[in-house]
Amino acid sequence: MRSERTQVGIVGAGPAGLLLSHLLALAGIESIIVEARSRLHLEERIRAGVLEQETVDVLRETGVGARMDREGLVHHGIALKFGGKGHRIDLTELTGKGVMVYGQHEVVKDLIAARLEDGDTIRFEVEDTSVHDIASEQPSIRYAKDGLDHEIRCDFIAGCDGFHGICRPALPDDVLRVYERVYPFAWLGILAKAPPASHELIYANHDNGFALLSMRSPEISRLYLQCAPDEDIANWPDERIWEELHARLAGDGFVLDEGPIIQKSVTAMRSFVAEPMRHGRLLLAGDSAHIVPPTGAKGMNLAVGDVRVMARALEAHYAGRGSEKLDAYSQTCLRRIWKVQRFSWWMTQMLHRFDDDTPFDRRRQLAELDYVTSSRAAAQSLAENYVGLPMDWG
Ligand code: FAD
Ligand code: DHB
Repeated sequence: MRSERTQVGIVGAGPAGLLLSHLLALAGIESIIVEARSRLHLEERIRAGVLEQETVDVLRETGVGARMDREGLVHHGIALKFGGKGHRIDLTELTGKGVMVYGQHEVVKDLIAARLEDGDTIRFEVEDTSVHDIASEQPSIRYAKDGLDHEIRCDFIAGCDGFHGICRPALPDDVLRVYERVYPFAWLGILAKAPPASHELIYANHDNGFALLSMRSPEISRLYLQCAPDEDIANWPDERIWEELHARLAGDGFVLDEGPIIQKSVTAMRSFVAEPMRHGRLLLAGDSAHIVPPTGAKGMNLAVGDVRVMARALEAHYAGRGSEKLDAYSQTCLRRIWKVQRFSWWMTQMLHRFDDDTPFDRRRQLAELDYVTSSRAAAQSLAENYVGLPMDWG
């Protein structure tokens, strides 16, 4: 077994693991990341696209925001569309803040480049990862690569390995509590080579189901449709996708430009929280500890919030300022996470069609949309959550 040592061993090179390693390096703390997939796979994996104001600030302030500032699209509002009419929520007027549309894989590219510039800090394409002695002061990560067994001995392990990772299951059964809701639908997402038909995002509630118009650049549209939870993508040839998008986004003279579809995928929808987020020397962050349904674009932003709190706590520990922040890690993160869970659930229930909806439910849903788009207080509440509740760095 080849053995090496670092201060913080990180499992997973998604936004959580990469940003954590970056923040730790800025504080003079060493880390090594182990990642199951290849660099190319991570850099091409299309996922979230909306960065909250504070996520933008963190990337900028820590020196990895230059390309985002050049290529990202700053947005000051979004539209909610129902009954064929769009209603703008002016995020900036209501909150003084905005959001940045910049793909998660672009953030990942920028962070990988920064980490590799700093040295040999990421082990890609590892197999059989496992974590050991998490309740002791000397935990370790083991993995295999190119037929050889490896071990990383460390002071702490950060479980940043996403929903299907191995870190959350390493918490003892009598410690881990799980809260979950699975939704009876999924999102069919496409990337299309077509200029976005609107400068701002449109979230549409339609009798056929939810639709979302988003973008990645002035030339590339990102579009989503509510579909069945077990949808077979083969049932959705390009013509059917465009037909449904035209129908669900129609109204107000809106014209959707079509273009070649360059990527298609189906994403399941769930709300999930694991508590606590720390056991012994293992700390969970991002999707390994929680999942939100994507309505409201919170997944990656939550991961950023967690690792910011974790980096501050580890910084205090290594600077000899005690373990108070580490001890409060789970509680500090969960306060924010539950509020974001509430918002993501609320947006989801307001905008999607549920098969068991009664005519009463439908009227109530439309009344809620009418209220949110006509009351300044209600619009401000939506806007405050959308641009991001203040991240309490602890
Ligand atoms: P991840 O990005 O999942 O990173 C975890 C990493 O750990 C991965 O690279 C994985 O390969 C690695 N890993 C896993 N197991 C191991 C192991 N055993 N050993 C080593 N490495 C391991 N959010 C939105 O807001 N809007 C969206 O449109 C949206 N779309 C999404 C689409 C999909 C298909 C998915 C899965 C998520 C989507 N999300 C979306 C959520 C958002 O992308 C996540 O919240 C975000 O990626 C969380 O970052 P993370 O670093 O915690 O986890
Ligand atoms: C995108 C994803 C979301 O979940 C959302 O609410 C807005 C935009 C996107 O991928 O662009």
